[in-house]
Amino acid sequence: MIEINNIHKSFSANKVLNGVSLKLNKGEVVAIIGPSGSGKSTFLRCINFLEKPDQGEIVIGGIRVNAQSATKEDVWQLRKATAMVFQSYNLFKNKTAIENIMEPLLVVQKMPLLEARNIAMDILEQVGLADKRDSYPSKLSGGQQQRVGIGRALAVNPEIILLDEPTSALDPELVGEVLDVIKRLAEKHMTMLIVTHEMRFAKDAANRIVFMDDGRIVEEGSPFELFSSPKNIRTAKFLNDVRVC
Ligand SMILES: Nc1ncnc2c1ncn2[C@@H]1O[C@H](COP(=O)(O)OP(=O)(O)O)[C@@H](O)[C@H]1O
Ligand SMILES: [Mg+2]
Repeated sequence: MIEINNIHKSFSANKVLNGVSLKLNKGEVVAIIGPSGSGKSTFLRCINFLEKPDQGEIVIGGIRVNAQSATKEDVWQLRKATAMVFQSYNLFKNKTAIENIMEPLLVVQKMPLLEARNIAMDILEQVGLADKRDSYPSKLSGGQQQRVGIGRALAVNPEIILLDEPTSALDPELVGEVLDVIKRLAEKHMTMLIVTHEMRFAKDAANRIVFMDDGRIVEEGSPFELFSSPKNIRTAKFLNDVRVC
């Protein structure tokens, strides 16, 4: 069980998160949707303290961290329990696909080389890139790079993977292969929190949809409930604007 309680975050006078709370069961896939600027990225980044929340509490796999009293060790533990996939893939340009996946195993987990290599090979299979093992990012398509990015997140065997619009930097024809990899992880019950504007994907892959607006969770429900009969007028308007109803 992952619990995020009452997160508040401001940037100077701009109150971006206004008491956001969310619980995820192990193996659950939750999609966050909502208008640009509603605080979705900031919320994800607060979960692993890439942004330090002003207030609130994160509970992941037996680690309980209060924003106001968090120590360096707490933040380290949180980062170890989570992995993040960004819009821009953030791969090491001077490392091959397999080396990019091995990196966190060697550096963070101090795993022996051979063991790290075996795990990375297995993960490359899972993301469908075994044949690109020795390719550098510059020789991979955007979709392939993002699949390496997802592989790198998987490698550390996190309690939860946080994905922030993982397909929004991709050319349209490359979106599908990345969504397919994420769907496969969902089927294997990897716990994931995914910010996405791919409504069809959210509908197909998520167990639950959360609609955020103006720094709050306005509504949450099953994909069926939320897409077919949104209860809040702001949810209805957003869905209407993105034309999925
Ligand atoms: N590092 C930052 N410094 C200052 N303002 C920020 C920072 N990150 C986000 N914001 C502001 O927080 C608000 C929410 O941004 P964000 O979380 O990126 O929303 P979303 O992901 O829903 O588009 C925006 O007004 C944005 O300008
Ligand atoms: Mg964002």
